[in-house]
Amino acid sequence: MSTNKVTVLDVQKAKDEGRKLVMVTAYDYPFGLLADKAEVDIVLVGDSLGMVVMGLEGTVEVNMEHMIHHIKAVVRGCKGPLVIGDMPFMSYNTSIRDAIINAGRLMKEGGCDAIKLEGGVDFAPTVEAVVKAGIPVQGHIGLTPQTASALGGFKMQGRDAMAAKKIIDDAKALEDAGVFSIILEAVPAPLGQLVAEAVRVPVIGIGAGPNVDGQVLVTHDMIGLFDKFVPKFVKQYTQIRETILEALKQYKQEVQSVTFPGPEHSFKMPDEALEQLKKMIHD
Ligand code: KIV
Repeated sequence: MSTNKVTVLDVQKAKDEGRKLVMVTAYDYPFGLLADKAEVDIVLVGDSLGMVVMGLEGTVEVNMEHMIHHIKAVVRGCKGPLVIGDMPFMSYNTSIRDAIINAGRLMKEGGCDAIKLEGGVDFAPTVEAVVKAGIPVQGHIGLTPQTASALGGFKMQGRDAMAAKKIIDDAKALEDAGVFSIILEAVPAPLGQLVAEAVRVPVIGIGAGPNVDGQVLVTHDMIGLFDKFVPKFVKQYTQIRETILEALKQYKQEVQSVTFPGPEHSFKMPDEALEQLKKMIHD
């Protein structure tokens, strides 16, 4: 994509022109900056924050204040990609009014360009109201981590024909409600393709196979920074924890052996001032 700011219109244009969309997550300024430098199309400040940054077991405990704090940091570094803020659990599930107020807060206080929320047919009225309030919405269907316990855990969705048809219905309902794109998580690859063909808006997959309109990965998973598990659909492009750990161990060894700091990392003092100081101390 161009070096200009990516908009929701560019996201639709990518699907219309058959260009795959590239999306990653970020939670702070340095990763926002790196995603910007890599010229990805979309950066999601996901509530995966709870797991990969805050060390929580899931995403349910993440709240509006956490999200706003991290969105602000990402936005400071991320000028080109479209930045999406994730609506935390129970920030939109309680009422349409709450959904509009909280979506507005992510944009006004956090500074993101759009919001994402989980749910299909049941959340179409909420999506419609938020879109009508002037806020671009990305949907999220298939495996929805906030309600993973209701789905029986972090499992592939749409295994049988009925369940798969329900996911296609969810996508269509979200499209009718006005989403500008849809995240489709952890479904069989052939279903991914059918969902992408069923709607005009871009379908961005995470564990939905190659025949969708783009891919998203949690950055901390793909660079080997998250320690707990690696989902089947994640490709690890590097093992950055090893590199960081090596640096920390070397630092520890050099501090203990007084090889750090060396002269190149130390400030000098004029000899005369030092002599004067020593005299003052000893007199
Ligand atoms: O929170 C998140 O990072 C997400 C991605 C898995 C799409 O929702």
